[in-house]
Amino acid sequence: DTSPIGIHDLSFATTEYVLAHTALAQHNGTDVAKYHKGIGQRSMSVPAADEDIVTMGAAAAAPLLERHGSENIRTVIFATESSIDQAKSAGIYVHSLLGMGSATRVVELKQACYGATAALQFAIGLVRRDPAQRVLVVAADVSKYELDSPGEATQGAAAVAMLVGAEPALVRIEEPSGVFTADVMDFWRPNYREAALVDGQESITAYLLAAEGCWKDYTEQGGRPLEEFTAFCYHQPFTKMAYKAHRHLLNHCGHGVDEDRVARDLGLTTAYNNVIGNSYTASVYLALAALLDQADDLSGQAVGLLSYGSGSVAEFFAGTVVPGYRAHLRTAAHRAAIDRREPVDHARYRALHERSFPTDGEEHRTPAETTGPFRLAGIRGHKRVYETRA
Ligand code: CAA
Repeated sequence: DTSPIGIHDLSFATTEYVLAHTALAQHNGTDVAKYHKGIGQRSMSVPAADEDIVTMGAAAAAPLLERHGSENIRTVIFATESSIDQAKSAGIYVHSLLGMGSATRVVELKQACYGATAALQFAIGLVRRDPAQRVLVVAADVSKYELDSPGEATQGAAAVAMLVGAEPALVRIEEPSGVFTADVMDFWRPNYREAALVDGQESITAYLLAAEGCWKDYTEQGGRPLEEFTAFCYHQPFTKMAYKAHRHLLNHCGHGVDEDRVARDLGLTTAYNNVIGNSYTASVYLALAALLDQADDLSGQAVGLLSYGSGSVAEFFAGTVVPGYRAHLRTAAHRAAIDRREPVDHARYRALHERSFPTDGEEHRTPAETTGPFRLAGIRGHKRVYETRA
C-alpha cells in the first residue's frame, strides 16, 4: 500500500503567562537588541503554577479529538524531554483527561528536542501497517535553564498535537529521511535536575554538524535537491538558529548565501517560536504551523523539515502540502493561544521559575491560575492530580 500518510490535523497550546524580553533585558542590564536581533526572540511563554506538559499536551490535543473523534486512535505517543515521571508516560494523563478508550497503546518517547520527529516517523510506520488507524502524537515541553544563565533568554513552553493518518488533510510526509547521530554533550539534564545543563557554543556547533550530517544522508538516500523546497522548517531553540543552520546548509551545498533567498525560505516559519521561545520537541512543528497558517497557498509544494535533538540526533525529511489544506487550518485558534497569555513582570517570572513541589509525599495544592482547559490541581501521596475546568 503506497497511500500517502502524514499530518491530518495539527493544533498547539502554550502557557497562561508570557515574559517579554524587554523585561529580562531591563533586569539583567543586557542590550535588548541582543535578544531581539542577536538571538531573534521577543518573548517567552511561562507556565502558571498549575500548568505543565500534561495540561499543555491535553489542551493541544483536545481540539483534534473534538473535530475527528478518538475512535480510530489506537496509539498515543507523547514526546518530551521535560518529563514529570521516570516511569509513567505523561501520555496516560492526557489519554485520561481526554476520555479516550482503553483499547489504546500509550507511550512516552525521549531524545531531547528530536523526540517528536521519532514519534511522527513511528506513527507513520503504524499507519502503514494498518491504514484505518490514526496515531495521536503529542509533543510538549517546558524549556528551563538556570536563572541568570546565558540559556535563560531561550526558555519557553508549548505543546503541539498532531493526528497522523492515511490520506492526510495537511501534509504528506515523504520518504526518504536523512538521519544522523553523534555522541556529544552539548545539552543534557541529569535525572536529579529540573533545569538543563548546556554548553551554548558547543550546542550550536553540534546542531550545525548534525544538520550537515542528516542532509548528507538525505541526499545519499535519493532525496530532493535543495532547489525543490519552497520553505524550510528548522528546530528553533531561538529563531536565529534556523538562519545559522540554513546558511550553513546552503554554503555546504555550494549555493552561496543569498540573503533574499534565506528570508524567503525561512521568513514565515519563525513567527510562533519568536514569541513562545524554545518548546524543545514542539519547536519544529510550531515552525510548520506558522508556515502553514501564514503562507498564501502552498498546495502541492515541498517543505523541508529539519529536526535536531541535542546529544545528538537529527533528521531531515520532506513534507508535501496537500491541496485544500487551508480549510483545515487552525490559524485563529493558534493566534488566540498566543494572544491570551497574560504578561508577567520579572519578579513574578522569577518566583514561578523557582517554584518547587514537595518530594516527601505531603499534600500540595497548586494555586488556581490557568484559564486553560486543564490544570494540575496538586500532588497527593506523590501522585499528580489533574482537573478539567468546568
Ligand atoms: N545587538 C545585536 N546583536 C547582539 C548584541 C547586540 N547588542 N549583543 C550580542 N548580539 C548577538 C551576538 O553577536 C550573537 O550573534 P551571532 O551568534 O550571530 O554572532 C548573538 O547575539 C548571541 O550572542 P552571544 O553568542 O554572545 O550569546 P550568549 O553566549 O550569551 O548565549 C546562546 C547564546 C549560547 C544561544 C545561549 O542563549 C544558550 O546557551 N542557549 C541555550 C542553548 C541553545 O539554545 N543552543 C542551541 C543549539 S542546541 C539545540 O538546538 C537543542 C535545544 O533546543 C537546546
